[in-house]
Amino acid sequence: MRIIPIGEMIAADIQDANLSQPLDDVSIAAITKAWNENLVLRFRNQHLSDADLIRFSSYFGELDPPGPNPYGVTFLPEFPEINVISNVKDDTGVPIGNLGDGEAVWHADMTYIDNPPEAGILYALEVPVGQGDTYFANMVAAYNDLPSDLRVAIEGKTLIHDAAHNSAGMLRKGYEEITDIKLTPGARHPLAYEDQHGRVSLFLGRRPHAYIVGMEESDSDSLLDALWAHATRPKYSWHNEWQKGDLVMWQNRMVMHRRDAFDPSTRRVMHRTQLKGKSPIAA
Ligand code: SIN
Repeated sequence: MRIIPIGEMIAADIQDANLSQPLDDVSIAAITKAWNENLVLRFRNQHLSDADLIRFSSYFGELDPPGPNPYGVTFLPEFPEINVISNVKDDTGVPIGNLGDGEAVWHADMTYIDNPPEAGILYALEVPVGQGDTYFANMVAAYNDLPSDLRVAIEGKTLIHDAAHNSAGMLRKGYEEITDIKLTPGARHPLAYEDQHGRVSLFLGRRPHAYIVGMEESDSDSLLDALWAHATRPKYSWHNEWQKGDLVMWQNRMVMHRRDAFDPSTRRVMHRTQLKGKSPIAA
């Protein structure tokens, strides 16, 4: 296996790995180390069944089932641990997956629950060429670079992470639109999160409907706008131009991601697992 960094501040390619076969302990340890160091890993040219995807994902932690989707269904009943991200509809017009073909805004997955997943693992089965790129941003680098006024402003602050909408802005099943942002449903987490290695990352979740507890709405919005403008500067991110057979895995607490919209007449089918996490610790 060869580990080749591919972004300036985030992401590495792991070459010469065949994930359709069981991996030995040495390979798993090497991938784990590279993942800790680079936060995002990409493996190209893989040929994985759903069982392979589950076996590979399980090397790195306990699988975490997907959260509720707008349709209130389990997309793959035979593999409920796998989420389907797709714009494709079946013969009866029912979507086979989540998120459609629109843009998915910057976010980390499921931060609206008390114990957001530690990691996401996304495998490309069908992709339109040159469209639907996914961007990954390093929130440890963004925190380390924070101007001192913003660092002071977020000290001890807690953010409400909206549970009602997905990253395509669709209302999840069982939720209603709310008008008072202070009543946004969802978990409360520290704005600065410290991992088990002592690294601190900005922990923003997603921008729409977010609210910093205890602040006037306008002050919360101004501070969040400043944090988001900083965190989404292109220098912190790398993007994947998807090829069929790519598997990309990311550290969900320290990385945000977003996806470009793509042509609705094309097919994009991704299978995704995620790993269970513990409650974020304040820095
Ligand atoms: C997601 O936001 O989890 C989906 C990313 C993608 O479709 O590339």
